[in-house]
Amino acid sequence: MSNFAIIGPGAVGSTIAYDLQHNQPNLKLLGRREQTLNFFVDGDSTNPHQLTVTALSDCHEKFDVIFIAVKIPQLSKVLSKLDHLLHQDTMLILAQNGHGQLSEFTHPFVYQAVVYISGQKEKDKVTHFRDHKLILKDTPQTQALCKKLENTPLKIQLTDDIEAAIWYKLLVNLAINSVTALSRSTASVLTVPGIKNLCENLLREGTEIAKFENVIFEEKIVTEIMTIYEGYPSEMGTSMYYDILEDKPLEIEGIQGFLYNKARLHNLKTPILDTIYPLLLAQQKN
Ligand SMILES: NC(=O)c1ccc[n+]([C@@H]2O[C@H](COP(=O)([O-])OP(=O)(O)OC[C@H]3O[C@@H](n4cnc5c(N)ncnc54)[C@H](OP(=O)(O)O)[C@@H]3O)[C@@H](O)[C@H]2O)c1
Repeated sequence: MSNFAIIGPGAVGSTIAYDLQHNQPNLKLLGRREQTLNFFVDGDSTNPHQLTVTALSDCHEKFDVIFIAVKIPQLSKVLSKLDHLLHQDTMLILAQNGHGQLSEFTHPFVYQAVVYISGQKEKDKVTHFRDHKLILKDTPQTQALCKKLENTPLKIQLTDDIEAAIWYKLLVNLAINSVTALSRSTASVLTVPGIKNLCENLLREGTEIAKFENVIFEEKIVTEIMTIYEGYPSEMGTSMYYDILEDKPLEIEGIQGFLYNKARLHNLKTPILDTIYPLLLAQQKN
């Protein structure tokens, strides 16, 4: 395990590259095109670090570990250009929000990471705000990765219940992404009468869907997630909010769409999700 690549030089991918570069000096950060990025770590806006991006189309090496950190609608294109970077034991780590995307992979060693890294990319500038953590399923292969990266700022947490970790993050994203995107407002939308109630009801539906997928959360999860939302600064936007403002493809299919389809599968009544999901689809311009 000595040859590392990261595909997707955005907020998450650049942070992983920055965190690993001293431990893995030959690692490749791969993007759509060759580029030099100015990377600001831990909210320090005064001290740029340069990151070199190689065009994915110009890379012909094979890697032992590849992190994929593109947005959900960008994944299928990356997967169509991946085969020549893989050997039979390559470990792929999908660093994305949402659920269900692993079904698009045919390679055997693929793990979904639950991403706790916060940042934003604007043109050639990437600002990392906080957190350096990925949660992965505990296997001998991920244990070896964890050991390999133990002296880097990237913290890999292993869990026996990756489904619970993925679903928890999915539920955290579900309500706040939906209301900020549809209202085109930052977290300040939570002060609008009725919005907190809408979030709570949407979270209850999400928790019920999780139960039918054998992921059981205690009822207090709704209050717990609402407390997380209330801790957000009112000027904070979510990724779906920024994507909708910038007319970018939205990560709907891995979040609201994934849950909507699961609700249909289990014949569940989810009136809030049934309203939110088509309204988001209707906003999708691409
Ligand atoms: N940002 C956060 O705070 C955060 C937190 C937790 C989870 N996440 C999740 O992490 C995932 C990645 O998010 P992000 O915020 O890092 O996204 P991002 O900043 O938009 O970065 C995605 C990067 O992928 C690149 N890309 C797109 N298509 C590509 C292709 N075909 N080949 C190579 N590179 C390609 C983009 O290139 P261009 O620069 O050319 O567009 C961009 O640099 C998402 O699922 C997101 O929901 C993000």
